[in-house]
Amino acid sequence: MSRRSGDHAWPLYAKGGYFNSLMKSRRLAQLVSMSLYPNAKEFTESCAVYTAIKRFCPWSLDDPTITAIVVGDGHTPRTGATIAVQSAWTVHSSDPVLRHAGAHAKVERLIQHRKCAERVLYPHKHRVVLAAPHSHANLRHVIASIKDAEIFVVSLPCCVPDGLGTPLRQYDDEGCLSPKRMVKIYHVRQE
Ligand SMILES: C[S@@+](CC[C@H](N)C(=O)[O-])C[C@H]1O[C@@H](n2cnc3c(N)ncnc32)[C@H](O)[C@@H]1O
Repeated sequence: MSRRSGDHAWPLYAKGGYFNSLMKSRRLAQLVSMSLYPNAKEFTESCAVYTAIKRFCPWSLDDPTITAIVVGDGHTPRTGATIAVQSAWTVHSSDPVLRHAGAHAKVERLIQHRKCAERVLYPHKHRVVLAAPHSHANLRHVIASIKDAEIFVVSLPCCVPDGLGTPLRQYDDEGCLSPKRMVKIYHVRQE
């Protein structure tokens, strides 16, 4: 049997998955050189969140009026940086364990907050993308802290349920090298 036969049946990760994007993108390669991703699993989790935004968010990645908020980004603002370098958005990355030091502090339009997401005072914005990559935060509390906005939510839940009701869409991202790879999408319009 030739190597190519049956390729279509291979799972995405066996075909190269998000590592193909890395080979093609100088901006993602720069993030790797900044040691933003501790391992392949974390890299693919950030890519899964960005890909869900790219595929399903109704707002343009080129629109500078959009704000993204990443909740529970970990020790480095990896998902925040993944979004910032591949969009024109202003990105807030929050986690109480975030480390500010390092080259990633220079990523354009990426603002880091070493605190819980619901304690950050976000500048007033109407359209917000909330990304939660294996976040342990209570997303309802975070959403309540963002006033008067339309919020597109991409969650990759792990131990803490989203608590946001039935998602608009949910699917397993085969390119995500994690046992917790279900992506859930919600659209919240605040009164
Ligand atoms: C399982 S870790 C995931 C970290 C990273 N996203 C990853 O996938 O490696 C959960 C993270 O959520 C953070 N966290 C918990 N509550 C939070 C909150 N209210 N706001 C922001 N981050 C929070 C924790 O500090 C922790 O770093």
